[in-house]
Amino acid sequence: MKITVIGTGYVGLVSGTCLAEVGNEVLCLDVDPAKIKILKDGGIPIYEPGLQDMVKRNVAAGRLHFTTDIKRAAHFGSVQFIAVGTPPDEDGSADMQYVTAAARNIGRYMTGYKVVVDKSTVPVGTADAVRAAIAEELQKRGVNTPFSVVSNPEFLKEGAAIDDFMKPDRIVVGCDDEQAALNMRALYAPFQRNHDRLILMDVRSAELTKYAANAMLATRISFMNELANLAEKLGADIESVRRGIGSDPRIGYDFLYAGAGYGGSCFPKDVKALIKTAAVDAGIDLKVLNAVELANDQQKHVLGNKIKARFGSDLSGKHFALWGLAFKANTDDMREATSRQVIKDLLSAGASVTAYDPVAMAEAMLCFPNEPGLSYADTQGEALNNADALVIVTEWKEFRSPDFEIIKAKLKSPVIFDGRNLYDPKLVRGMGFEYLAIGR
Ligand code: NAD
Ligand code: UDX
Repeated sequence: MKITVIGTGYVGLVSGTCLAEVGNEVLCLDVDPAKIKILKDGGIPIYEPGLQDMVKRNVAAGRLHFTTDIKRAAHFGSVQFIAVGTPPDEDGSADMQYVTAAARNIGRYMTGYKVVVDKSTVPVGTADAVRAAIAEELQKRGVNTPFSVVSNPEFLKEGAAIDDFMKPDRIVVGCDDEQAALNMRALYAPFQRNHDRLILMDVRSAELTKYAANAMLATRISFMNELANLAEKLGADIESVRRGIGSDPRIGYDFLYAGAGYGGSCFPKDVKALIKTAAVDAGIDLKVLNAVELANDQQKHVLGNKIKARFGSDLSGKHFALWGLAFKANTDDMREATSRQVIKDLLSAGASVTAYDPVAMAEAMLCFPNEPGLSYADTQGEALNNADALVIVTEWKEFRSPDFEIIKAKLKSPVIFDGRNLYDPKLVRGMGFEYLAIGR
């Protein structure tokens, strides 16, 4: 099949590359010439394990191409994936300008039947808006070319994106016409395993399914974060509680890790957008989700608050080593990363910070350009120099079994604030550390 993917970010680049990997001819379009240049030069603009090799292999095989040429992209694919960003607007709703622009560009230049696939996370009703935008552009051209609009939300996780796309646990397709459903079945046939993973439903249900999934996962995390704060006060250990409840198959072990708040480009914005859609489009106040968001906003201050409780609310003259900047391990993505709040909390209290992250430092420098009081170290060990304490924000593997003797020797006081519960409290405290984790 010939496929166009519009938007070559985390989702577009992974989707396009995986679709090429199974034999399709794929053209990835982006309006950002810098991204397309990097890709044409053989690099990739993001960090995602395994992606660089896969891109190279498919470019070499002549199945994967990159362009900024909107007209060429609209002609190319019989299937047109829209995978552009839907960032939060000022009021929390999803900003639909990129999706609308992508749809209009398809309508402006398409020739022949197209299946237009909404892969971006979009509010219920977007497929109708995309259909209307394309129809309007066709009308302006005085042509009556047929097309279908399908909702096919993406569930990949950054850091595990290739595996998630190549071996999906479900493929949600929202579709109101048979021709498009057949096309989607054929397209996803190579990604089926053991049993049929494709769940066909109406378009609106598919659009809502994506928000429901992220909202449910965010809810589990905020719930565990609240229980962790409670466990801490009551002298219980949230890790034991997690294992205790996760063993119930009705609950399950996944996404029950307490921490310093969830971040990333999806949970925070999708929870906000769902709250907003419910209020504006349906007049419904989503009380549970409002609480999930509030709890998460507070949880992002939990490390800052613990540090102030230990060292005093005026942190002037104090210096902290910060391990981990990305919103989670195995990505360079800094969107809504908890580290941003921790850094702000520490700097605004007068402290200075030296941060280290295996891959997200370049992104962090874009978030904090020339921030007084914030510096970066080349290694995790170097970050510890002259620090009063170590603060861990991201669960990178290389932070999991450090040389504690070196940490102790370098820190002015042997204090570790662990926002990811990486270590066994007994073990670390036994080595003479003051160990302040989450809910333990
Ligand atoms: P991103 O910001 O990494 O990439 C979006 C890309 O679209 C950018 O490169 C931008 O230049 C490009 N773009 C914008 N307007 C364009 C246009 N008119 N034509 C061509 N290109 C255009 O975004 P992302 O993280 O890949 O997310 C994309 C969508 O997928 C969002 O709706 C997001 O919620 C959803 N999603 C993201 C993830 C994730 O893990 N990042 C997972 C599932 C779903
Ligand atoms: C998420 C969804 O998992 C994915 O299905 C969707 O397509 C996009 O949004 P992503 O944002 O890449 O993926 O990361 P995810 O692994 O879900 O983590 C999101 C945030 O929750 C991170 O900050 C992570 O550290 C945090 N988290 C996750 C916890 O605090 N505890 C957990 O148990 C799991």
